Amino acid sequence: MLCTAKELLKDASTRKYGVGMFNVVSLDCVRAVCETAEALKSPVMIALAEIHLPYAPIELMAPLMLAAARNAKVPVAVHLDHGCSFEVLVKAVNAGFTSVMFDGSTLPYAENLGRTKEIVKIASVSGTSVEAEIGHVGGGEGGTEDSSPELYTEPEQALRFAQESGIDSLAVAIGTVHGEFKKTPRLDFERLSAIHKIVSQPLVLHGGSGLSDDDFRECIRRGISKVNIFTDMSYAGSEAARKALASGKKMHCFEFTEASRKTMDEVVETKIRLFGSNGMA
Ligand code: 13P
Repeated sequence: MLCTAKELLKDASTRKYGVGMFNVVSLDCVRAVCETAEALKSPVMIALAEIHLPYAPIELMAPLMLAAARNAKVPVAVHLDHGCSFEVLVKAVNAGFTSVMFDGSTLPYAENLGRTKEIVKIASVSGTSVEAEIGHVGGGEGGTEDSSPELYTEPEQALRFAQESGIDSLAVAIGTVHGEFKKTPRLDFERLSAIHKIVSQPLVLHGGSGLSDDDFRECIRRGISKVNIFTDMSYAGSEAARKALASGKKMHCFEFTEASRKTMDEVVETKIRLFGSNGMA
């Protein structure tokens, strides 16, 4: 069933588990996420990132993602990830996405707040959930490369932003990066607890790939309700396709993509079990 992120994250924060949000760029990704979530009776989010639109146009992905969500026997939210341009955010809302993220994390505070409020107003007409980011998670998607502590989320600023913007969930910067970590991540758990203590909206962890199992458990224990994953799933899928092709056997294009999908299934299953959302639908 298609549902909003607000509904999913409310349950996750009440029952203290994490909802996996997986970035999708193809039919194989969509099927890997939705079918695995269904098999595990888990709520889930499928997301299209603005940065991936050259490879996965929203006009084609929206009907696919929405159909997969509607057909699923578990709750699925269809999300726009790292929406930076007003045009794409409006397109996603109009296409029927049930959740959008506005990423103004590299903007000055006042500008981030002002633009977020505008998106909240537009999204409220259709009941679309809105996520925004304060502080900045580095590493590519929608921003800079680093994750220096100066960019970490300040709890007091997070509280002010969450109250003034009217958002449904808040992405926080506590030491993760998008993509592969160049060195072992050291997350600022105390900061996460301090934010969770004062911000009432569900908190979101970006840059989930490469974290240890203990990191995920600790983040969820300290208040994270949504975890974003792309790189781990995407690299595993490509690696499976590469291996299938390396057999040298002549094959149809759906044969190596099938190998890729099956491997992505495994990554999604591992994460869903780790986040504790299996059996929660
Ligand atoms: P990873 O690619 O590090 O898993 O991050 C995904 C993400 O945060 C998408 O918003």
